[in-house]
Amino acid sequence: MIGGRTAAGINLPRKLTDRCIRPYEPKMSRGDQTRDGNSRKMNKRAAKQCKIRNFLKALPISDGAVAVRVMSHADAEAYASGTDDALVRRFAHLPLEKYTPQVVHDLIKGAIEDGLRDGTLAVLTISDASSDSFLGSLVFFDVTSDDAEIGYWVAPEHRGRRVSGRALMLAMEIGRKLGLKKLRARTVQNNPASSKVLLGVGFEQVGNPLPQVAPSGKTEMSVNYLVEL
Ligand SMILES: CC(C)(COP(=O)(O)OP(=O)(O)OC[C@H]1O[C@@H](n2cnc3c(N)ncnc32)[C@H](O)[C@@H]1OP(=O)(O)O)[C@@H](O)C(=O)NCCC(=O)NCCS
Repeated sequence: MIGGRTAAGINLPRKLTDRCIRPYEPKMSRGDQTRDGNSRKMNKRAAKQCKIRNFLKALPISDGAVAVRVMSHADAEAYASGTDDALVRRFAHLPLEKYTPQVVHDLIKGAIEDGLRDGTLAVLTISDASSDSFLGSLVFFDVTSDDAEIGYWVAPEHRGRRVSGRALMLAMEIGRKLGLKKLRARTVQNNPASSKVLLGVGFEQVGNPLPQVAPSGKTEMSVNYLVEL
């Protein structure tokens, strides 16, 4: 995490009341396990009640053409290069000015791994189902007991083939597998490609455009979308 935000420009949830945070369980020796048996049981119970979202159980997932999988270090260069694109910079609200491959490697080992472990954040790769190469990024964040928000971008050289629509359908399938009831999305008001993609896969606009603080911290006229799973 950098400055309280992640690779995808996401503020990690601060309130524990409506967010599921997996209790931290350090590796233990056999003796520790016996001594700590009770607290482990309590952790497991808390985790169950909290319905921790284990994204890894739903991944990878593919429709035969496009896949969604955990980010790998092999994606670092393509991810960093994709973040340099003007539309990604304008609409994806990434928190850093510049992503180098090294920054991406560090995020994978840090915030991205942490988010997947505690079920609060999933920064995933949209990949080509045949070659496994990086096509874009799909992020689940602000995960509550019922729903999550998603964000996404497709690298400019892979646009025009409806990759994000396929990725969103897969995101909905991931959400169902995790037991989520809804997915939320937000776009900047004048982002016709993104709203077309969202409406095309079944999201519906909720209310009128409103000034909202984007994950980057910038205030933008934004449109909210929702899909029931
Ligand atoms: C939004 C984005 C992911 C779509 O990429 P994609 O999956 O390759 O989508 P496509 O280029 O195939 O376009 C999808 C649809 O939008 C339409 N479209 C694309 N650009 C458009 C534009 N500027 N104006 C109107 N429609 C547009 C396409 O014609 C296509 O419509 P169709 O399905 O009827 O043919 C990509 O443009 C992107 O990464 N943008 C920057 C980041 C971003 O906006 N992320 C979403 C924020 S939540």
